[in-house]
Amino acid sequence: MNFLKNKSILLGVTGGIAAYKTPGLIRGLKEKGIAVKVVLTENATRFVSPLVISILSDGIFTSLWEEGIPHINLSEEASLLCIVPADYNIMGKAASGVADDLLSTVIPAYDGKILFFPSMNSKMYENPILQKNIDILRGLGHIVIEPDEGPLACKGEGKGRLPDIDRIILEMEKALAPDLLKGTYCLITGGATTERIDPIRYITNRSSGKMAYSLARYCYLNGAKTELIVGVNALDCNRYLPINVIRVETARKMQEEILKRWDEVNYLFMNAAVADFTVQKKDKKIKKKKELTLKLKENIDILADLKSKKGSQFVIGFALETEDLLDSAKKKMKDKGVDLMVANRESAIGDDYTSGFLISRYEEEPFQCSKDELSWKIIKRIRS
Ligand SMILES: Cc1cc2nc3c(=O)[nH]c(=O)nc-3n(C[C@H](O)[C@H](O)[C@H](O)COP(=O)(O)O)c2cc1C
Repeated sequence: MNFLKNKSILLGVTGGIAAYKTPGLIRGLKEKGIAVKVVLTENATRFVSPLVISILSDGIFTSLWEEGIPHINLSEEASLLCIVPADYNIMGKAASGVADDLLSTVIPAYDGKILFFPSMNSKMYENPILQKNIDILRGLGHIVIEPDEGPLACKGEGKGRLPDIDRIILEMEKALAPDLLKGTYCLITGGATTERIDPIRYITNRSSGKMAYSLARYCYLNGAKTELIVGVNALDCNRYLPINVIRVETARKMQEEILKRWDEVNYLFMNAAVADFTVQKKDKKIKKKKELTLKLKENIDILADLKSKKGSQFVIGFALETEDLLDSAKKKMKDKGVDLMVANRESAIGDDYTSGFLISRYEEEPFQCSKDELSWKIIKRIRS
């Protein structure tokens, strides 16, 4: 389990057309183990069915005049208050202190930062009053997420679309994360590098980049400046992650990209499966023939080469072996100046789950979990 354990979101839904997307959002949050209670404005009930919301969520509230003091109870028990979609009207009420229904009364009663996802016609979004309200809310420490550009429900195109659900969930997770890496720069490598045989063909390995994307996601969620260097064939595992992703072909190019950034790095997660061999490359396409012998040479060793350049950087290494996993990983850790070593098994390649050992100078901890859980375990370990 990660930092979402026992967290609850109070979701405010207002009378924007994008309210019809909120059942999908609630399902996505529930799949992450987050409890979701929903406050619908009266106008929101015209755009989304309260019955559907009540079935999917952990509770639905529409009136100030229910039993007890709902605006106080709801605001006190929530880990995070999010307004999705936030219409023009609620942005104005929240910024100017109007409290005339349940949702607009929950807002001043809630004492944490609030996440607003405005969504409306692009002219309404660009209206100077709305922009001023956004500035006021941001000035108060709240988070206002820019809407996407594209086709709008009211016809035409422009800025005002509600972002995709995965992006919304990412921002909510970020707001709930404990910011363990705030102020640090995390560089992650992942996927497989490739080495050309001729202009058309190359050798590579089966690494997918899933572990690296998971690490990048957790670093981003925990407040780090995060960059990811991946092999050209790595899957695009999270297109909503707003970080710089650099695609490289060869081990040498990956090394170059790391060295460009090395002085700034606080944590290097050297997760890439760097090709151990290079090929004597031919300039022209090799013709088809009955038999072909490729001459392979030892490739550069990025981690070993970094050892002599190491200052305050903390290096997390990854080892994958089909035999003698623990011993080989420990040797690699010592030889290459790695601070924390993750030894994992062949079954981890391309999978969402992984198993192996987390090896520090003092202990070896076995793990068998999802790659997301491992990312969280590693981050907690390096920041404890
Ligand atoms: C068909 C229709 C679609 C609307 N879509 C939006 C919208 O996407 N965004 C928005 O800010 N307002 C939209 N409005 C206007 C709001 O519904 C209106 O401002 C309402 O007073 C909001 O009430 P509430 O904030 O209490 O939910 C729409 C109105 C109608 C009739």
